[in-house]
Parts: sequence; C-alpha cells; structure tokens
Amino acid sequence: METKELSITGVQMPVIGMGTWKLGGSFASDYSHDQQAIESLKAGIELGLILIDTAELYGTGHSEELVGEAVKRVRDKVFIATKVSPQHLTCDGVLRAAEASLTRLQTNYIDLYQVHWPNSSIPIRETMRAMERLVDEGKVRFIGVSNFSVELLRQAQEYLSKYQIVSNQVEYNLLNRRIEKDLLPFAEKEHITVIAYSPFAVGRLLSYSGRGKDTLKQLAVKYGRTIAQLCLNWLIYKQPVIAIPKAISIKHLEENAGAAGWRMEPEDYEIVDKVFH
Ligand SMILES: NC(=O)c1ccc[n+]([C@@H]2O[C@H](COP(=O)([O-])OP(=O)(O)OC[C@H]3O[C@@H](n4cnc5c(N)ncnc54)[C@H](OP(=O)(O)O)[C@@H]3O)[C@@H](O)[C@H]2O)c1
Repeated sequence: METKELSITGVQMPVIGMGTWKLGGSFASDYSHDQQAIESLKAGIELGLILIDTAELYGTGHSEELVGEAVKRVRDKVFIATKVSPQHLTCDGVLRAAEASLTRLQTNYIDLYQVHWPNSSIPIRETMRAMERLVDEGKVRFIGVSNFSVELLRQAQEYLSKYQIVSNQVEYNLLNRRIEKDLLPFAEKEHITVIAYSPFAVGRLLSYSGRGKDTLKQLAVKYGRTIAQLCLNWLIYKQPVIAIPKAISIKHLEENAGAAGWRMEPEDYEIVDKVFH
C-alpha cells in the first residue's frame, strides 16, 4: 500500500484507510452485523488499509468495540484513530472518554486521538491540556482534530506547549471542495495531514449523474480503473491528503485498496478539477 508521512512525525500512513461510521450502529448500538463487520475490518487490514478511523460516538461505542475485536491479534500492525465527542471536551471529560475508548478498543494506546467537533462552550485550552497529558502518559501517540477551521486549528495549537496537531479530519470529495479555499493550502504549508472523510460523499458520488460524470467514465476507461478508484485517487493526489472511505463489502474494500499506488497524467487531474468546480 502506498504511504504518506503523518505530518512530520516520521510515521508512514497508508493513503487509504477505513472509516467505520455505521459499523456497529450510528447514533445507537446495533449488534446485528457484528460478524460481518469484524470480517470486513480484518479483510481491510489484510489489504493494507491499516488506518482505522472510529469514534466514541459511532454506535455509542460499539464501533470501537468491533475495531478492538478485529485488531486484537494485530494491534501493533494497525493505526487506530478515534475521536472524543464535543460534549466531553473539558479536561476531565477528555481523560474519562479516552479511558473508556481504550477499554472498548482493548488496547493501552490510541495512535491518533482527535477532537471530533469543536465546542465553543468549552475552552479549547482545557481540551488541549488533557490531550497533552494523554500523550505524556503514553495513552495517545498523536493529537488530531476534526471539523476545525484554520483559525480554530491555530488556536488549539497555541495551547499545546510540547506537541503538534498532526491532522485535521474534514469532509472532502469531488462534490465538496470547500477546504481548497484555505484549509488545504494551510495544511500543506504547515505539514498537517488532511484526513478526507466521506470521500464518496456518503456514496452519493457513486450513483451521481451530474456534471463531470462522463469525464470520470472516460478516465475510468483510459486508466482501467473504476469510478470509485478515481474519486479516491483524485483525493490522494493532493499532497497532504489521505482518505478514509467506509465499506463493509469486501468487494468495495478491494476496490478501495486499488485506488492507491498509481497516478493519472497531471493534465487529467486538471480536467477533473475543472469539470467538478
Ligand atoms: N469526522 C467526522 O465528523 C466524520 C463525518 C463523517 C464521516 N467520518 C468518517 O469518514 C468515514 C467515511 O465517510 P462516510 O462513511 O460518511 O461515507 P463514504 O466513505 O463517502 O461512503 C460510504 C458508502 O460508500 C460505499 N462504498 C464504499 N466503497 C465503495 C466502492 N468501492 N464502490 C461503491 N460503493 C462503495 C459504502 O458501501 P458499503 O458499506 O456497503 O460497502 C457506503 O455506503 C466514516 O465511516 C467515518 O469514519 C467522519
């Protein structure tokens, strides 16, 4: 699997990972597809999709439990990214949430701990104090944020005295390119990894029939790839970006793994850029 360095940490990350929203439920736990979810996660790891993104919110913790079950025999080979919910961003709240995530994930460290969404009613200073403590204690390797603007990202970084924020997880796909205005150039300049969520616009891009669809079809033929692969490949062509599609189907996982390790000619990325603008 093609890799990129996570920020300037020296840690190499696969450019395609696995999302887990709806694995184990969405806003409530769902135990009905546990076996399939665990098998999919294991199959994804075999394919090299070793970055697994989850959150305490997903399935009210059941997604983390499924990830913990799937990785327990290969813990040192995977990179677990989880998230603390916005209502838990006080210092004590973060510390408690991290302990609960560690238990559900059956591990003693989280590779990347991300603030899921900002919360303007809790000072970010408090949140970052807890994050720093978790790294000091060896419970978290790297600190990340999600859904942060450039300004919030700067503020959060100011309250960290010892560590850098290594990533910002944000929505980014061909139908939503908002981050290209300021966040993407900022991340590139500051060496912050952008983790692109909803890379298929929650699947919408794959049944999409609007402007640009024919261009994607033509390029898919030209490069012998699928449209899903083109959508992911367009994202990872951008220097600071890695993508975390969610897939429970093994066929989808295989396809997604095949989105890395090749490039189109530069002018073809420009054509896609123009037609989806
Ligand atoms: N930080 C945040 O606030 C935030 C917000 C949203 C999402 N996320 C993260 O980002 C991850 C991905 O985003 P998402 O779940 O919103 O949506 P997504 O990855 O854009 O789309 C997921 C959908 O695409 C389908 N799919 C996957 N690979 C495919 C392929 N090769 N061909 C055809 N269909 C394919 C999946 O089907 P099957 O499952 O049936 O295979 C699923 O229905 C989440 O799971 C979560 O980890 C984070």
